[in-house]
Amino acid sequence: MRFYIKNYGCQMNLYDSTRMTDALTTAGYTESKKKDDANILIFNTCSIREKADEKLFSDLGRAKSLKFKAKDKGEDFVIIVCGCVAQAKTTEITNRAPYVDAVIGPQEIHKIVSAIKTALNKNDEDEYIFMNAMEAKEKFENLQSNQITKRSCSEFLTIQEGCDNFCTYCVVPYTRGREFSRDVADIIEEAKRLISLGVKEITLLGQNVNSYRGEGPDGKIWSLSKLLYAMAEVEGLARLRYVTSNPKDVTKDIAEAHRDIKILAPFLHLPVQSGSDKILKKMNRKYSVNEYLDCIEMLREYRHDMAFSSDFIVGFPGETDKDFEDTLKLAEKVKYAQAYSFKYSPRNKTAAAKMDNQILEKIKEERLKILQNLLNDQQNKFNENTIGKTVSVLFTKKGKFKNQLVGRSEYSQAVSICDKAIHIGDMANVKITELKSHSLLGSIEEK
Ligand code: SAH
Ligand code: SF4
Ligand code: F3S
Repeated sequence: MRFYIKNYGCQMNLYDSTRMTDALTTAGYTESKKKDDANILIFNTCSIREKADEKLFSDLGRAKSLKFKAKDKGEDFVIIVCGCVAQAKTTEITNRAPYVDAVIGPQEIHKIVSAIKTALNKNDEDEYIFMNAMEAKEKFENLQSNQITKRSCSEFLTIQEGCDNFCTYCVVPYTRGREFSRDVADIIEEAKRLISLGVKEITLLGQNVNSYRGEGPDGKIWSLSKLLYAMAEVEGLARLRYVTSNPKDVTKDIAEAHRDIKILAPFLHLPVQSGSDKILKKMNRKYSVNEYLDCIEMLREYRHDMAFSSDFIVGFPGETDKDFEDTLKLAEKVKYAQAYSFKYSPRNKTAAAKMDNQILEKIKEERLKILQNLLNDQQNKFNENTIGKTVSVLFTKKGKFKNQLVGRSEYSQAVSICDKAIHIGDMANVKITELKSHSLLGSIEEK
Protein backbone atom coordinates (compact mmCIF):
# COMPACT_ATOMS: atom_id res chain seq x y z
CA MET A 1 0.00 0.00 0.00
CA ARG A 2 1.07 3.62 -0.51
CA PHE A 3 1.19 6.15 2.33
CA TYR A 4 1.19 9.93 2.39
CA ILE A 5 2.07 11.94 5.50
CA LYS A 6 0.80 15.49 5.77
CA ASN A 7 2.86 17.34 8.32
CA TYR A 8 1.70 20.37 10.30
CA GLY A 9 3.50 22.36 12.95
CA CYS A 10 6.97 22.45 14.36
CA GLN A 11 10.32 20.85 13.61
CA MET A 12 9.66 18.13 16.14
CA ASN A 13 6.67 17.01 14.11
CA LEU A 14 8.82 17.01 10.98
CA TYR A 15 11.28 14.77 12.79
CA ASP A 16 8.46 12.44 13.89
CA SER A 17 7.16 12.31 10.32
CA THR A 18 10.56 11.27 8.95
CA ARG A 19 10.81 8.57 11.63
CA MET A 20 7.33 7.27 10.69
CA THR A 21 8.42 7.26 7.04
CA ASP A 22 11.47 5.18 8.04
CA ALA A 23 9.33 2.68 9.95
CA LEU A 24 6.73 2.39 7.18
CA THR A 25 9.27 1.97 4.38
CA THR A 26 11.11 -0.67 6.40
CA ALA A 27 7.79 -2.51 6.81
CA GLY A 28 7.31 -2.55 3.02
CA TYR A 29 4.94 0.38 2.47
CA THR A 30 5.69 2.81 -0.35
CA GLU A 31 5.87 6.55 0.19
CA SER A 32 3.65 8.57 -2.11
CA LYS A 33 4.47 12.20 -2.78
CA LYS A 34 0.85 12.98 -3.68
CA LYS A 35 -2.13 12.66 -1.40
CA ASP A 36 -4.45 11.55 -4.23
CA ASP A 37 -2.20 8.64 -5.06
CA ALA A 38 -2.09 7.14 -1.54
CA ASN A 39 -4.38 4.69 0.24
CA ILE A 40 -2.98 5.37 3.71
CA LEU A 41 -3.35 9.01 4.76
CA ILE A 42 -1.51 10.11 7.88
CA PHE A 43 -2.05 13.57 9.34
CA ASN A 44 0.71 14.57 11.75
CA THR A 45 -0.99 17.46 13.45
CA CYS A 46 -0.23 20.58 15.49
CA SER A 47 -2.41 22.18 18.15
CA ILE A 48 -0.35 25.23 19.07
CA ARG A 49 -2.92 27.75 17.79
CA GLU A 50 -6.56 27.32 16.86
CA LYS A 51 -5.93 27.80 13.13
CA ALA A 52 -3.68 24.73 13.13
CA ASP A 53 -6.52 22.60 14.58
CA GLU A 54 -9.03 23.84 12.06
CA LYS A 55 -6.74 23.00 9.16
CA LEU A 56 -6.88 19.35 10.21
CA PHE A 57 -10.65 19.23 10.20
CA SER A 58 -10.93 20.74 6.72
CA ASP A 59 -8.27 18.30 5.41
CA LEU A 60 -10.16 15.41 7.01
CA GLY A 61 -13.27 16.37 5.06
CA ARG A 62 -11.38 15.84 1.81
CA ALA A 63 -9.83 12.60 3.08
CA LYS A 64 -13.31 11.27 3.86
CA SER A 65 -14.45 11.49 0.24
CA LEU A 66 -11.28 9.72 -0.93
CA LYS A 67 -11.92 6.96 1.59
CA PHE A 68 -15.56 6.52 0.60
CA LYS A 69 -14.65 6.38 -3.09
CA ALA A 70 -12.08 3.65 -2.38
CA LYS A 71 -14.55 1.71 -0.21
CA ASP A 72 -17.16 1.87 -3.01
CA LYS A 73 -14.63 0.15 -5.24
CA GLY A 74 -14.00 -2.44 -2.51
CA GLU A 75 -10.47 -1.14 -1.86
CA ASP A 76 -8.70 -0.68 1.48
CA PHE A 77 -8.17 2.87 2.71
CA VAL A 78 -6.78 3.98 6.07
CA ILE A 79 -6.90 7.42 7.70
CA ILE A 80 -4.75 8.08 10.77
CA VAL A 81 -4.45 11.24 12.84
CA CYS A 82 -1.17 11.60 14.74
CA GLY A 83 0.54 14.37 16.66
CA CYS A 84 -0.58 17.05 19.07
CA VAL A 85 -4.24 17.40 18.00
CA ALA A 86 -4.56 13.61 18.30
CA GLN A 87 -3.48 13.96 21.93
CA ALA A 88 -5.40 17.12 22.77
CA LYS A 89 -8.69 16.46 20.96
CA THR A 90 -9.08 12.69 20.71
CA THR A 91 -12.84 12.61 21.28
CA GLU A 92 -13.49 15.63 19.11
CA ILE A 93 -11.73 13.88 16.22
CA THR A 94 -13.68 10.67 16.56
CA ASN A 95 -16.96 12.59 17.01
CA ARG A 96 -16.45 14.95 14.11
CA ALA A 97 -14.67 12.46 11.84
CA PRO A 98 -15.88 8.92 12.67
CA TYR A 99 -14.27 7.62 9.45
CA VAL A 100 -10.80 8.10 11.02
CA ASP A 101 -9.28 4.68 11.80
CA ALA A 102 -6.68 5.53 14.43
CA VAL A 103 -5.73 8.43 16.68
CA ILE A 104 -2.10 8.32 17.78
CA GLY A 105 -0.46 10.81 20.17
CA PRO A 106 3.09 12.16 19.60
CA GLN A 107 4.71 9.66 21.97
CA GLU A 108 3.20 6.63 20.23
CA ILE A 109 4.22 7.19 16.62
CA HIS A 110 6.55 4.18 16.71
CA LYS A 111 3.36 2.10 16.66
CA ILE A 112 2.30 3.41 13.26
CA VAL A 113 2.90 0.10 11.46
CA SER A 114 0.88 -1.96 13.93
CA ALA A 115 -1.90 0.67 13.90
CA ILE A 116 -2.23 0.30 10.12
CA LYS A 117 -2.29 -3.50 10.38
CA THR A 118 -5.02 -3.35 13.04
CA ALA A 119 -7.00 -0.80 11.01
CA LEU A 120 -6.91 -3.08 7.95
CA ASN A 121 -8.25 -6.01 9.96
CA LYS A 122 -10.95 -4.28 11.95
CA ASN A 123 -14.46 -4.51 10.56
CA ASP A 124 -16.51 -2.54 13.05
CA GLU A 125 -16.59 1.09 11.79
CA ASP A 126 -17.22 2.35 15.31
CA GLU A 127 -14.14 0.82 16.80
CA TYR A 128 -11.28 3.30 17.01
CA ILE A 129 -7.64 2.68 17.68
CA PHE A 130 -6.35 5.04 20.37
CA MET A 131 -2.70 5.26 21.27
CA ASN A 132 -2.29 8.06 23.71
CA ALA A 133 0.56 7.47 26.17
CA MET A 134 2.42 10.59 27.30
CA GLU A 135 5.86 9.03 27.94
CA ALA A 136 8.52 9.63 25.28
CA LYS A 137 10.91 6.92 26.58
CA GLU A 138 9.30 3.97 24.84
CA LYS A 139 9.10 5.81 21.55
CA PHE A 140 12.84 6.39 21.41
CA GLU A 141 13.58 2.85 22.54
CA ASN A 142 11.56 1.62 19.59
CA LEU A 143 12.66 3.94 16.80
CA GLN A 144 15.76 2.26 15.43
CA SER A 145 18.47 4.31 13.78
CA ASN A 146 19.27 1.48 11.34
CA GLN A 147 15.85 2.14 9.78
CA ILE A 148 17.05 5.56 8.65
CA THR A 149 17.85 5.23 4.97
CA LYS A 150 17.24 8.51 3.19
CA ARG A 151 18.02 12.02 4.36
CA SER A 152 18.86 15.49 3.03
CA CYS A 153 22.12 17.27 3.91
CA SER A 154 20.54 19.16 6.81
CA GLU A 155 18.51 17.18 9.34
CA PHE A 156 16.84 17.37 12.73
CA LEU A 157 17.64 15.07 15.62
CA THR A 158 15.33 15.10 18.63
CA ILE A 159 17.30 14.87 21.89
CA GLN A 160 14.65 16.03 24.36
CA GLU A 161 10.87 16.01 24.35
CA GLY A 162 8.03 17.22 26.49
CA CYS A 163 7.82 20.24 28.71
CA ASP A 164 7.53 20.85 32.44
CA ASN A 165 7.29 24.63 32.20
CA PHE A 166 3.55 25.15 31.78
CA CYS A 167 3.66 28.61 30.25
CA THR A 168 0.08 29.68 30.79
CA TYR A 169 -0.75 30.04 27.06
CA CYS A 170 0.79 26.79 25.84
CA VAL A 171 -0.77 23.44 25.01
CA VAL A 172 2.54 21.53 24.59
CA PRO A 173 2.81 20.18 28.19
CA TYR A 174 -0.63 18.63 27.62
CA THR A 175 0.24 17.09 24.25
CA ARG A 176 3.88 16.00 24.57
CA GLY A 177 3.87 15.22 28.30
CA ARG A 178 6.72 15.60 30.77
CA GLU A 179 10.35 16.32 29.88
CA PHE A 180 12.37 13.38 28.69
CA SER A 181 16.01 13.36 27.51
CA ARG A 182 17.53 10.65 25.33
CA ASP A 183 20.80 8.97 26.32
CA VAL A 184 23.98 10.49 24.88
CA ALA A 185 24.99 7.18 23.24
CA ASP A 186 21.69 6.95 21.31
CA ILE A 187 22.05 10.50 20.08
CA ILE A 188 25.65 10.01 18.92
CA GLU A 189 24.72 6.74 17.21
CA GLU A 190 21.90 8.46 15.33
CA ALA A 191 24.19 11.37 14.39
CA LYS A 192 26.77 8.94 12.98
CA ARG A 193 24.08 7.18 10.98
CA LEU A 194 22.86 10.49 9.57
CA ILE A 195 26.39 11.53 8.61
CA SER A 196 26.99 8.18 6.89
CA LEU A 197 23.96 9.04 4.73
CA GLY A 198 25.43 12.38 3.64
CA VAL A 199 24.06 14.70 6.35
CA LYS A 200 26.32 17.73 6.92
CA GLU A 201 24.30 19.80 9.35
CA ILE A 202 22.40 18.55 12.38
CA THR A 203 19.92 20.58 14.39
CA LEU A 204 19.36 19.09 17.83
CA LEU A 205 15.74 19.44 18.82
CA GLY A 206 14.02 19.82 22.15
CA GLN A 207 10.97 21.64 23.44
CA ASN A 208 13.45 23.02 25.96
CA VAL A 209 16.65 21.91 24.41
CA ASN A 210 18.83 23.62 27.00
CA SER A 211 17.20 21.78 29.86
CA TYR A 212 18.59 18.56 28.30
CA ARG A 213 19.65 16.13 31.03
CA GLY A 214 20.54 12.84 29.40
CA GLU A 215 22.53 9.91 30.67
CA GLY A 216 26.11 9.91 29.38
CA PRO A 217 28.27 6.88 28.62
CA ASP A 218 29.93 7.48 32.02
CA GLY A 219 26.59 6.90 33.76
CA LYS A 220 26.41 10.56 34.76
CA ILE A 221 23.83 13.12 33.71
CA TRP A 222 25.08 15.32 30.87
CA SER A 223 24.01 18.88 30.16
CA LEU A 224 23.39 20.31 26.70
CA SER A 225 26.82 21.97 26.56
CA LYS A 226 28.56 18.67 27.33
CA LEU A 227 26.56 17.01 24.56
CA LEU A 228 27.48 19.82 22.15
CA TYR A 229 31.22 19.22 22.78
CA ALA A 230 30.71 15.48 22.15
CA MET A 231 28.73 16.15 18.96
CA ALA A 232 31.55 18.37 17.70
CA GLU A 233 33.85 15.33 17.88
CA VAL A 234 31.66 13.28 15.53
CA GLU A 235 33.63 12.97 12.31
CA GLY A 236 32.11 14.48 9.19
CA LEU A 237 29.71 16.89 10.87
CA ALA A 238 30.10 20.32 9.27
CA ARG A 239 27.60 22.37 11.25
CA LEU A 240 25.67 22.04 14.48
CA ARG A 241 22.58 23.90 15.73
CA TYR A 242 20.09 23.40 18.55
CA VAL A 243 16.55 24.64 19.09
CA THR A 244 14.46 25.77 21.09
CA SER A 245 16.22 27.35 24.03
CA ASN A 246 14.31 28.73 26.95
CA PRO A 247 15.93 31.99 28.17
CA LYS A 248 15.58 30.91 31.80
CA ASP A 249 17.89 27.93 31.17
CA VAL A 250 20.70 29.63 29.21
CA THR A 251 23.84 29.22 31.30
CA LYS A 252 27.47 30.31 30.99
CA ASP A 253 28.63 26.88 29.80
CA ILE A 254 26.36 27.29 26.75
CA ALA A 255 28.01 30.63 25.96
CA GLU A 256 31.42 28.98 26.40
CA ALA A 257 30.42 26.24 23.96
CA HIS A 258 29.64 28.96 21.41
CA ARG A 259 33.12 30.37 21.96
CA ASP A 260 34.89 26.98 21.78
CA ILE A 261 33.08 24.90 19.19
CA LYS A 262 33.93 25.85 15.63
CA ILE A 263 31.05 24.01 13.96
CA LEU A 264 28.44 25.43 16.35
CA ALA A 265 26.48 28.10 14.44
CA PRO A 266 26.62 31.60 16.01
CA PHE A 267 22.84 31.80 15.90
CA LEU A 268 20.30 31.23 18.63
CA HIS A 269 16.53 31.03 18.61
CA LEU A 270 15.68 32.54 21.96
CA PRO A 271 11.94 33.19 22.21
CA VAL A 272 11.12 36.10 24.51
CA GLN A 273 7.32 36.19 23.91
CA SER A 274 6.84 39.65 25.47
CA GLY A 275 8.87 42.70 26.52
CA SER A 276 6.70 43.43 29.55
CA ASP A 277 7.62 42.01 32.96
CA LYS A 278 3.97 42.03 33.96
CA ILE A 279 2.98 39.91 30.94
CA LEU A 280 6.01 37.60 31.28
CA LYS A 281 4.89 36.91 34.83
CA LYS A 282 1.33 36.19 33.75
CA MET A 283 2.77 33.90 31.06
CA ASN A 284 4.79 32.05 33.74
CA ARG A 285 7.99 32.47 31.70
CA LYS A 286 10.22 32.65 34.82
CA TYR A 287 12.57 35.41 33.53
CA SER A 288 12.37 39.19 33.45
CA VAL A 289 13.13 41.52 30.55
CA ASN A 290 16.47 42.45 32.15
CA GLU A 291 17.41 38.82 32.67
CA TYR A 292 16.65 38.16 29.02
CA LEU A 293 18.79 41.11 27.91
CA ASP A 294 21.62 39.96 30.21
CA CYS A 295 21.46 36.56 28.60
CA ILE A 296 21.81 38.09 25.10
CA GLU A 297 24.72 40.21 26.32
CA MET A 298 26.50 37.23 27.85
CA LEU A 299 26.22 35.25 24.64
CA ARG A 300 27.53 38.19 22.59
CA GLU A 301 30.41 38.57 25.01
CA TYR A 302 31.55 34.99 24.37
CA ARG A 303 30.77 35.01 20.67
CA HIS A 304 30.78 38.55 19.31
CA ASP A 305 28.90 37.77 16.05
CA MET A 306 26.08 35.86 17.75
CA ALA A 307 22.75 36.49 15.98
CA PHE A 308 19.31 35.95 17.47
CA SER A 309 15.80 35.05 16.48
CA SER A 310 12.71 35.00 18.66
CA ASP A 311 9.02 34.23 19.00
CA PHE A 312 6.54 36.86 20.16
CA ILE A 313 2.93 36.63 21.25
CA VAL A 314 0.79 39.76 20.96
CA GLY A 315 -2.55 40.27 22.64
CA PHE A 316 -1.96 38.02 25.65
CA PRO A 317 -4.80 38.56 28.20
CA GLY A 318 -4.33 41.87 30.00
CA GLU A 319 -1.74 43.24 27.53
CA THR A 320 -2.10 47.04 27.51
CA ASP A 321 -0.77 49.52 24.94
CA LYS A 322 2.09 50.19 27.35
CA ASP A 323 2.95 46.46 27.64
CA PHE A 324 2.95 46.22 23.86
CA GLU A 325 5.21 49.28 23.55
CA ASP A 326 7.61 47.57 25.96
CA THR A 327 7.71 44.61 23.59
CA LEU A 328 8.63 46.97 20.71
CA LYS A 329 11.31 48.55 22.92
CA LEU A 330 12.83 45.19 23.72
CA ALA A 331 12.96 44.24 20.03
CA GLU A 332 14.66 47.60 19.29
CA LYS A 333 17.31 46.76 21.88
CA VAL A 334 18.08 43.24 20.74
CA LYS A 335 18.00 43.81 16.97
CA TYR A 336 16.90 40.39 15.80
CA ALA A 337 18.21 38.66 12.70
CA GLN A 338 14.75 37.16 12.24
CA ALA A 339 11.64 36.51 14.32
CA TYR A 340 8.19 34.94 14.36
CA SER A 341 5.19 36.65 15.88
CA PHE A 342 1.73 35.36 16.61
CA LYS A 343 -1.63 36.57 17.87
CA TYR A 344 -2.44 34.98 21.20
CA SER A 345 -4.78 32.03 20.66
CA PRO A 346 -6.65 30.63 23.70
CA ARG A 347 -6.03 26.89 24.10
CA ASN A 348 -8.09 24.32 25.91
CA LYS A 349 -6.83 23.32 29.41
CA THR A 350 -4.34 26.25 29.60
CA ALA A 351 -4.51 28.79 32.42
CA ALA A 352 -4.45 31.85 30.15
CA ALA A 353 -7.60 30.77 28.32
CA LYS A 354 -9.50 31.33 31.58
CA MET A 355 -7.90 34.71 32.39
CA ASP A 356 -9.88 37.97 32.43
CA ASN A 357 -9.21 40.79 30.00
CA GLN A 358 -8.96 38.76 26.81
CA ILE A 359 -7.90 41.11 24.04
CA LEU A 360 -10.12 41.92 21.05
CA GLU A 361 -9.14 40.32 17.76
CA LYS A 362 -8.94 43.76 16.10
CA ILE A 363 -6.35 44.97 18.62
CA LYS A 364 -4.34 41.76 18.29
CA GLU A 365 -4.28 42.30 14.53
CA GLU A 366 -3.14 45.92 14.83
CA ARG A 367 -0.37 45.02 17.25
CA LEU A 368 0.78 42.10 15.16
CA LYS A 369 1.09 44.33 12.09
CA ILE A 370 3.16 46.93 13.95
CA LEU A 371 5.47 44.32 15.48
CA GLN A 372 5.90 42.44 12.22
CA ASN A 373 6.84 45.67 10.41
CA LEU A 374 9.52 46.34 12.99
CA LEU A 375 10.84 42.75 12.89
CA ASN A 376 10.87 42.78 9.08
CA ASP A 377 12.90 46.00 9.11
CA GLN A 378 15.33 44.42 11.56
CA GLN A 379 15.71 41.35 9.38
CA ASN A 380 16.36 43.53 6.32
CA LYS A 381 18.94 45.58 8.20
CA PHE A 382 20.66 42.47 9.48
CA ASN A 383 20.79 41.10 5.93
CA GLU A 384 21.96 44.41 4.46
CA ASN A 385 24.83 44.41 6.93
CA THR A 386 26.04 41.17 5.36
CA ILE A 387 26.52 42.79 1.94
CA GLY A 388 30.25 42.91 1.17
CA LYS A 389 30.99 40.26 3.82
CA THR A 390 31.78 36.57 3.44
CA VAL A 391 29.49 33.97 5.00
CA SER A 392 29.69 30.19 5.13
CA VAL A 393 26.79 28.56 3.27
CA LEU A 394 25.53 24.98 3.28
CA PHE A 395 23.64 24.47 0.01
CA THR A 396 20.50 22.45 0.62
CA LYS A 397 18.30 22.77 -2.50
CA LYS A 398 17.91 23.92 -6.08
CA GLY A 399 16.68 27.46 -6.73
CA LYS A 400 14.12 28.67 -9.27
CA PHE A 401 16.67 29.53 -11.95
CA LYS A 402 19.04 27.41 -14.01
CA ASN A 403 22.18 26.39 -12.05
CA GLN A 404 20.86 28.25 -8.99
CA LEU A 405 21.38 26.73 -5.56
CA VAL A 406 19.96 27.89 -2.25
CA GLY A 407 21.41 27.42 1.19
CA ARG A 408 21.70 28.92 4.65
CA SER A 409 24.48 30.94 6.18
CA GLU A 410 25.75 30.31 9.70
CA TYR A 411 23.31 33.07 10.77
CA SER A 412 20.45 31.14 9.15
CA GLN A 413 20.02 33.60 6.27
CA ALA A 414 18.82 32.31 2.89
CA VAL A 415 21.63 32.68 0.33
CA SER A 416 21.45 31.90 -3.42
CA ILE A 417 24.23 31.55 -5.94
CA CYS A 418 24.57 30.47 -9.57
CA ASP A 419 27.70 28.38 -9.92
CA LYS A 420 27.98 25.11 -11.81
CA ALA A 421 30.87 23.93 -9.64
CA ILE A 422 28.70 23.87 -6.50
CA HIS A 423 26.36 21.01 -5.62
CA ILE A 424 23.72 20.30 -3.00
CA GLY A 425 25.49 19.30 0.23
CA ASP A 426 28.51 21.53 -0.43
CA MET A 427 29.52 24.07 2.15
CA ALA A 428 31.33 27.09 0.76
CA ASN A 429 32.33 30.64 1.56
CA VAL A 430 30.14 33.11 -0.27
CA LYS A 431 30.84 36.78 -0.74
CA ILE A 432 27.50 38.55 -0.46
CA THR A 433 26.81 41.11 -3.16
CA GLU A 434 23.09 41.86 -3.06
CA LEU A 435 19.88 41.52 -1.06
CA LYS A 436 16.68 40.63 -2.94
CA SER A 437 13.50 40.53 -0.84
CA HIS A 438 14.53 38.14 2.00
CA SER A 439 17.27 36.36 0.12
CA LEU A 440 20.96 37.22 -0.21
CA LEU A 441 22.82 36.78 -3.48
CA GLY A 442 26.55 36.28 -3.84
CA SER A 443 29.39 34.38 -5.42
CA ILE A 444 31.75 31.68 -4.22
CA GLU A 445 34.93 32.97 -2.66
CA GLU A 446 36.79 29.78 -2.01
CA LYS A 447 35.79 26.18 -1.55
N1 SAH B 1 9.24 25.57 23.60
C1 SAH B 1 9.32 26.75 22.88
C2 SAH B 1 8.13 27.11 22.02
C3 SAH B 1 7.19 26.11 21.49
S1 SAH B 1 5.76 26.71 20.73
C4 SAH B 1 9.56 27.90 23.84
O1 SAH B 1 9.41 27.78 25.03
O2 SAH B 1 9.86 28.98 23.38
C5 SAH B 1 6.35 27.86 19.52
C6 SAH B 1 5.83 29.23 19.70
O3 SAH B 1 4.44 29.28 19.49
C7 SAH B 1 6.02 29.82 21.07
O4 SAH B 1 7.30 30.32 21.27
C8 SAH B 1 4.98 30.91 21.12
O5 SAH B 1 5.47 32.13 20.64
C9 SAH B 1 3.90 30.40 20.17
N2 SAH B 1 2.71 29.98 20.91
C10 SAH B 1 2.58 28.98 21.79
N3 SAH B 1 1.32 28.93 22.28
C11 SAH B 1 0.64 29.94 21.69
C12 SAH B 1 -0.70 30.44 21.80
N4 SAH B 1 -1.58 29.87 22.63
N5 SAH B 1 -1.04 31.50 21.04
C13 SAH B 1 -0.16 32.08 20.21
N6 SAH B 1 1.10 31.67 20.07
C14 SAH B 1 1.51 30.62 20.80
FE1 SF4 C 1 5.21 25.77 25.68
FE2 SF4 C 1 6.46 27.21 27.50
FE3 SF4 C 1 6.99 24.63 27.27
FE4 SF4 C 1 7.76 26.31 25.36
S1 SF4 C 1 8.47 26.31 27.51
S2 SF4 C 1 6.76 24.33 25.07
S3 SF4 C 1 6.12 27.79 25.32
S4 SF4 C 1 5.06 25.52 27.94
FE1 F3S D 1 2.52 22.05 17.37
FE2 F3S D 1 2.87 20.03 18.98
FE3 F3S D 1 4.92 21.19 17.81
S1 F3S D 1 1.42 21.67 19.24
S2 F3S D 1 4.27 23.30 17.66
S3 F3S D 1 3.32 20.07 16.80
S4 F3S D 1 4.88 20.38 19.86
